[in-house]
Amino acid sequence: MDAALNEQSVTTEQEDFLDYLHASIAETLRVPESEILIKLNKHKYHDAGAPDVTNGDLTEVFNIMRELNLAGVSNPSLGRGHNGGLSLREALQQTVRELATRCDPGAYHYVELGPEPIKTALILEGLADLAAPPASYLGIDINPASRPVMREAVARYVPAGSLRQVVDDYERLERLPLPWDRKPALVTMLGFQEGNEPPSDMTDWYRRLLRPGDMLLCEMQLVPQSDWSPIYCFYNDDLMRRFSRKTLTAKFGDVKSEYGVTVVAMPPGYPAKGIVVMTTERIVDGGPFNGKIVVTNYCTKYPADEFRTLREANGAFEVLCQTVTGDGSIAFQLARRR
Ligand SMILES: C[S@@+](CC[C@H](N)C(=O)[O-])C[C@H]1O[C@@H](n2cnc3c(N)ncnc32)[C@H](O)[C@@H]1O
Repeated sequence: MDAALNEQSVTTEQEDFLDYLHASIAETLRVPESEILIKLNKHKYHDAGAPDVTNGDLTEVFNIMRELNLAGVSNPSLGRGHNGGLSLREALQQTVRELATRCDPGAYHYVELGPEPIKTALILEGLADLAAPPASYLGIDINPASRPVMREAVARYVPAGSLRQVVDDYERLERLPLPWDRKPALVTMLGFQEGNEPPSDMTDWYRRLLRPGDMLLCEMQLVPQSDWSPIYCFYNDDLMRRFSRKTLTAKFGDVKSEYGVTVVAMPPGYPAKGIVVMTTERIVDGGPFNGKIVVTNYCTKYPADEFRTLREANGAFEVLCQTVTGDGSIAFQLARRR
């Protein structure tokens, strides 16, 4: 990956979104903006000085994501809610059945943005069982640590020689040599990753990346209608706390800190209404950064209908289906590029 290009790829949209988050969290926590340190999410997934090199921090970040997914899909009650409905695993399985009815066997490319092995292996295994395997797999990750694990997880489900992995910022995809031919693509963005980006940026970017007929599968954490406990539980999970702490220590070393979670409204004027959840570490070690509040992650969430609105906002996509867990907290949304 070209480090200089990657560093330059900060859009005005990203800058404006970050400025808004910076001001909102300072106001919500009632501290001066100078006490808050916030950077783009993507910076925690790679080392800009050595973007192709895997190190212990990046491996741990990848492993935490993998453990979160493993815990999620192997817990039969996660996502089910008080009145029954689908668990996270069942919602994913239902989505795979939907995909199998729309994907021609061996006649589409599977393109994964921000790869992880647990859900992806479940999807590819399901597609193979339903006789709808892809012609190829392409994984694009800014974090080089995912490469060997993904190869191992995916190789058995795609034809020999058709597996490709790119270590790069997916925002540069339009400038990368993608294997587009006449076959359509199924592009996936799972694990609340879309929420890690400014909403209009993503909507527009998907429009430019996908061609008419391509499909887009995204996973989003939703704002449930009344009971927000799934969101609180997620951010209170030990793995999310570890993820936050790792993001801090990778930059500041082993400083003492206190974990926190702050919720603010989405900025006005965006195509969909929702919230932004930020995790923070307040440094409490008496050293030069004492008292600083480091934002370790920010992630947008929408009510289910707003998530549809967001996808259809620029007229380039038609939502084909949206499968939601019983507790109303997670959606798998399948859309087609018009
Ligand atoms: C929140 S994790 C989600 C991981 C996984 N998709 C899942 O379902 O759990 C975000 C993933 O996207 C990758 N990522 C984040 N920003 C990226 C960027 N700008 N370009 C490429 N990959 C990126 C990270 O390395 C990480 O693997």
